[in-house]
Amino acid sequence: MLEILPSILSADFARLGEDIHRVEAAGIRMLHVDVMDGHFVPNITLGPPVVKSVRKITKLTLDVHLMITDPDRYVGAFVEAGANCVSVHQEVCPHLDRTLRMIQAEGAQAGVVLNPGTPVATLEEVLDVVDYVLVMSVNPGFGGQKFIPRSLDKVRQLVEARKSRGLSFAIEIDGGASPANIGDIAKAGVDWVVAGSSVFGTADPAQAVRELSRSAQEALAVYV
Ligand code: DX5
Ligand code: ZN
Repeated sequence: MLEILPSILSADFARLGEDIHRVEAAGIRMLHVDVMDGHFVPNITLGPPVVKSVRKITKLTLDVHLMITDPDRYVGAFVEAGANCVSVHQEVCPHLDRTLRMIQAEGAQAGVVLNPGTPVATLEEVLDVVDYVLVMSVNPGFGGQKFIPRSLDKVRQLVEARKSRGLSFAIEIDGGASPANIGDIAKAGVDWVVAGSSVFGTADPAQAVRELSRSAQEALAVYV
């Protein structure tokens, strides 16, 4: 079952609770939370206090995407605030195996993220540790950017590696997902699709989620 994860980056932060309840009505199970430090990426967003407030108003699985240079320092605070899944960028983790195990020891699912310029091969030694791999389909930092089609090659490589090694990590994609490409994303084998502007940038976010979900299911039905 493919999950659509609305990204609150494109929500109205002054009405965050309302916006979250709007997409909950579409039957989503997970919410994507973008944390940016103005250092690893050229933008600043939010920290553990916001995650804590969001945790109070929803039971959805909170998928926290850390776009920060020193994730080890903050993982504990985000899990304590209510994160269920925490992902870190391969590019900032010299001790990636240790960081991933630390996230799991804190009690969350551990994800590793690949920037568009980072190959799948860099994850070879941690694929049996991770709970999920997040493929960036835009360069991280902002919502509303154009989808990079090559990302789907990476998804296919991960699907192949998962199969050949008998693993079960989930594959997530983040950036530029829209009704125009969700079919191709689904067919490539993605399990979790993050959608920011194509959900919260529309007049009816719940309807946008339903339509993305329906297009994905239709593409898979034709494909099988
Ligand atoms: C980008 C963030 C994304 C962002 C996606 O750096 O990691 O999660 O919210 O937004 P859209 O779907 O608008 O590309
Ligand atoms: Zn993200």
